[in-house]
Amino acid sequence: NELGLVAVGFSGGQTKAGVDAAPTALLEAGLIHQLQNDLNYNVTFDGQVHTYADLIPASDPPHRNMLRPKSVSAVTRAVSSQVYTHAAAGRLVLTLGGDHSIAIGTISGTARAVRERLGQEIAVVWVDAHADINTPETSESGNIHGMPVSFLTGMTRSEDEERFGWLGEEHLISARKLVYIALRDIDRGEKEILRREGIKAFSMHDIDRHGIGKIMDMALGWIGSDTPIHLSFDVDALDPMWAPSTGTPVRGGLTLREGDFIAECVAETGNLIALDLVEVNPSLEVTGAQETVRAGCSIIRCALGDTLL
Ligand code: ARG
Ligand code: MN
Ligand code: MN
Ligand code: MN
Repeated sequence: NELGLVAVGFSGGQTKAGVDAAPTALLEAGLIHQLQNDLNYNVTFDGQVHTYADLIPASDPPHRNMLRPKSVSAVTRAVSSQVYTHAAAGRLVLTLGGDHSIAIGTISGTARAVRERLGQEIAVVWVDAHADINTPETSESGNIHGMPVSFLTGMTRSEDEERFGWLGEEHLISARKLVYIALRDIDRGEKEILRREGIKAFSMHDIDRHGIGKIMDMALGWIGSDTPIHLSFDVDALDPMWAPSTGTPVRGGLTLREGDFIAECVAETGNLIALDLVEVNPSLEVTGAQETVRAGCSIIRCALGDTLL
């Protein structure tokens, strides 16, 4: 049971301060102890919450409507190689964010490692209130945390090495192996992209209609039983009642149990190779910050194999 841990203290994919403090908050809640003692993982961790300060350029003006493109590009490039190193060594990779732009790094890292080791494409389960599939052109905010999936699927490409041009074919995923769960706040341009690309997506409406049990059967059935899974979990998938401390909360979300259940079902497949937990911002809704951190730790434990009985 080998686990690689990467702590990414980065907030540049959006504009609210504080999401960079999430890894420290999650670690101070006793996460490593839980992984080692309760779940029996051998944890490989460099002991650092990375801020990548040396990679952040002094000047980083908007480009193609993206805010801080060089910073996000440089940080995600570094994260990609950190995650790749763990995955290539056969370790399950847990990445603590940070905002969701860091998934450009985490998913490109596992996609490359699995391609090299198994000659296979990975599947991605993206649990989020948002689809994060804007292109720089469709984005209304310019925040790159709303765009990672468009980069990862190759819908957004760049020749500029310093602005995501480092992403190569080996880093990309197939839109057919991507499944969304818990969507409820999708921008106009994103709806068009989801439809055009035929992407599998389960909204809160679908969860209300069928129940989370049936939704997980459908989501994992779509992926199939022989594909490595990268689970990218945005804490704002949970209802703000359970996870208020996040930058873009949307009401009408998952209950705490539904969030844990999704993670448990992915764990049961035995195919989980990587997990991201992102968008916890302890400096927002401070009275609910510990609740949000606890919810995050719970989802991580469930995804990594903790069971109720
Ligand atoms: N769709 C909005 C945007 O493009 C919100 C994205 C929120 N993303 C997130 N990772 N919380 O800005
Ligand atoms: Mn979100
Ligand atoms: Mn919106
Ligand atoms: Mn997100």
